[in-house]
Order: sequence, then C-alpha cells, then structure tokens
Amino acid sequence: MAAEKLSTRHLLGIKDIDRNDIELIFETADNFKEVINRPIKKVPSLRDITIANIFFENSTRTKLSFELAEKRLSADIVNFAASSSSVSKGETLIDTVNNILAMKVDMVVMRHPYAGAGVFLSKHINAQIVNAGDGAHEHPTQALLDAFSIRQKLGDVAGKKVVIVGDILHSRVAISNILCLQKLGAEVMVCGPTTLIPKFINGLGVKVEHDLRKALNWCDVANMLRIQLERQDIKYFPSLREYAMMYGLNKQILDSLDKEIVVMHPGPINRGVEITSDVADSKQSIILEQVENGVAVRMAVLYLLASQRD
Ligand code: CP
Repeated sequence: MAAEKLSTRHLLGIKDIDRNDIELIFETADNFKEVINRPIKKVPSLRDITIANIFFENSTRTKLSFELAEKRLSADIVNFAASSSSVSKGETLIDTVNNILAMKVDMVVMRHPYAGAGVFLSKHINAQIVNAGDGAHEHPTQALLDAFSIRQKLGDVAGKKVVIVGDILHSRVAISNILCLQKLGAEVMVCGPTTLIPKFINGLGVKVEHDLRKALNWCDVANMLRIQLERQDIKYFPSLREYAMMYGLNKQILDSLDKEIVVMHPGPINRGVEITSDVADSKQSIILEQVENGVAVRMAVLYLLASQRD
C-alpha cells in the first residue's frame, strides 16, 4: 500500500524520492490513465493552479507531455522558450523566473542545460519546481514513465533485469533510470563503449558490460539511448557508423536472442544509429507506450505535488 502524500515538495530528482513515493505516483497514474481514455479526458483537479513551463533547451516529448498533463488537470499554463525570450539579452535565471512568478505562478516545470539548475531555483523562489531535465544530471519524470511502462508490460519492476545501452556518460535519463529501477527492486546493467561509461558508475551498484550481445542475453528489457552529440566536446568513438555496428540494436540481433526482450527508447530516436527502424517499430518495442504513459505519470506528479500546498 503506497503512502498518501509525497515526501517532497518539489520533484528535482529520483534521488530525493523513495519507493513509497514512486508507488504512490504509479497508483495515481493508473487512475489518470483511465481518465485520459475517457471521451472527456479532463478533470478539474488543478483548476486553481497556474504552471509555467520554462524550457531553456529543446524538447518535443517532455514539453508536449507536461502541457497535455496540465491541460487534462485543468491548470492554467504559460509557456516560455528561452530562445525567444529576454534571456538572449542577458537576463539571469533568477530574474527570469521571478518575473514569471510575479505573475502569480504556483509551479515551475523547467528544463535547463546545466546540472543542478532546478535545485538552485528551489532555494531561491517559493514556487514548486519540477525538473524536466537538467544537463547530464537527472530527468525524473522520464525515469518514472519508463519504470511505469515496464510495470505495465511485465507486471512488476522488482526482479526484472534492465540494461541501459549507449551514451551513459552524457545521459540524465540513464542516471534517473538507474536510481528509479533500483529503488523498485530491479537489477540494472549499463552497456556501451568504455569512453561513454562514466567512472562513477561503479558507485551506483550497476553491472557494466561492453559486449552488446552479452548484455541483451542477460536482460529482460533493453533501454536504448541516443548518442548525445550536443553534449560531446571531443570524439568518444571513431564514427557513428562504427558505433552502430558495435552498439546498434538491429532485427538480426534481436531475433537471435533466446527470449523476447522488451525494447525501450526515451526518444528522440536516431534511426539506424542506436536502433534500426524495424526494431523501433517492432512488436517488442514499447516506445510509443512510453510516450502515452508519460502524460498519465506527469499528471500524477503534478497532482500529488499540488496536494502538498497549504
Ligand atoms: N525523452 C525526452 O526527454 O525527449 P525530449 O527531449 O523531446 O523532451
């Protein structure tokens, strides 16, 4: 039986929440999944709440998913994209957000290229903060929707073996997934070239494997990550073609395994690099279920955080 309230006022990272919080989010998301499959996909739960979606970095899935979640909960929303704002004229993060808050905003959903931006903001403003991805640090709602999707597909997360493949070094998705899956009792492995596996990974209690076939033969679920060229200042492997040959998941490899594994990807996909089209679009792939579940999970997070207010 999950707790009735979250143990935190903000959602800054999976490291700040416990298994009870995650289970409460999942049980709440189960209810919201039912809501968003009704003909009228809307409830009045957040009609007294105003949320600002502040994106200092590009996003398709996360931004649209948060916006839809907020609209389904009847919140008032304002959207802010740094590229078309006064940030380009030199305004600081705190000034930008304080100006938005002066317009009586209750909650801020923020994506930022710098690790720790959400934590920094939570110490300087009164609004509740939801981290929608901060640099290579954390992406908590992505990890929650990924674990929720594994639970939906396999019945439970506990005891499952999940391998996260690819650019672990630059990935906030990998870190949040590792923390979330471990809190729920899964075994986690990371797989990729040595140059893309950070040294601190050993301290997180995950297995490390550099051979993709061995990793896939071990796992129940493979979460394939994108190579994050936008965060790479030097070359970590000779070419994308070589990376695809060593670490790309294709149908031939998938069909050669002894069991049917579940294939995931947080998006955006680089088809033909980390995953081929026939795998991404196969019946073993739950990529679009992940996107669908993202709305219900984010509704749950926003609803539960809003319940913390006085
Ligand atoms: N998965 C994810 O964070 O995708 P976006 O960058 O499109 O939001």
